Amino acid sequence: MASTLADRSTRSTEHLTTIDGRADARWCCSQLEAGQILYLEQLPFALPEVDRQFLLSQRQDARYHKNISYRPQEDKLRGFAAEQPAEVERLHRILRDYSRRTTEYLSGLLAPYAAQWTLDFATFRPIEEKGRDLPLHKRNDLMHVDSFPSRPTRGARILRFFTNINPTEPRVWLTADRFEPLAERYARQAGLPRYAKLGSPMRRRLDGAVRAMKRAVGLRAPHYAPYDRFMLRFHDFLKESGEFQASPARTQIDFPPGSAWMVFTDSVPHAVLSGQFALEQTYLIPLDAMQCPHLAPVRVLEKACGRPLID
Ligand code: SIN
Ligand code: FE
Repeated sequence: MASTLADRSTRSTEHLTTIDGRADARWCCSQLEAGQILYLEQLPFALPEVDRQFLLSQRQDARYHKNISYRPQEDKLRGFAAEQPAEVERLHRILRDYSRRTTEYLSGLLAPYAAQWTLDFATFRPIEEKGRDLPLHKRNDLMHVDSFPSRPTRGARILRFFTNINPTEPRVWLTADRFEPLAERYARQAGLPRYAKLGSPMRRRLDGAVRAMKRAVGLRAPHYAPYDRFMLRFHDFLKESGEFQASPARTQIDFPPGSAWMVFTDSVPHAVLSGQFALEQTYLIPLDAMQCPHLAPVRVLEKACGRPLID
């Protein structure tokens, strides 16, 4: 089922809720937690035209192996190897501004989350997604839910705020049924019972000892809960599953030039089919901040396997 946003007359459809600046914060949070994509026809703050033109002038070439990321906590830019230091500095400043302005805006719109969220990375996505040549598990055009290989969340939610800065082309997404039916259909097949056993006291002691040893020799040793390990597997499983990828229950959403949207990408299955030039900022939001924690993937999975998946 294809839908164009331009001719939407209702505020809310099965997967998408159009909002404006006056939307109530608690209502917005509960819409997001129920799996809706919150959509804004226009980015709610100014992105200076000169900055947008600069971003659009960054053509896809061998310099870009992946997205360009900005780490707000360290104020660091990664993944951009321009020869000109002035260009690097300019991109750094633009992403810093986008990250700050987005965070200022969402601090009001999603006030119940703001006191507790962790500001994660922002990204600039200058590569045309259609026909992008990536290994299967990295392909963005296959439906999946997000999890981060290097940044376990231990149950915290992944919220992402996107902006399509392309002046003429939409960013085209597919989305499908929400997390509960997805888990019901596929979590066991993806190995949930096996991952649930990782939470046993003996296994936790063993993992703790391995982490301590790694730290003692100066290695990074993030703490992956059974939930994180399962979600990494689930991400790959869904991309590998011919049955899931071919499932007809799909909704196509064309995000027009200049629009912005936010969504919990750890629970809402999504894929991007085409589009070039987007900005994005990620937030990690703890379960404690949720209005409906029972809808969070970790709680859905714990209910399904009858065991705790975080400690
Ligand atoms: C993704 O999170 O899978 C990609 C979404 C996008 O870049 O539009
Ligand atoms: Fe994703």
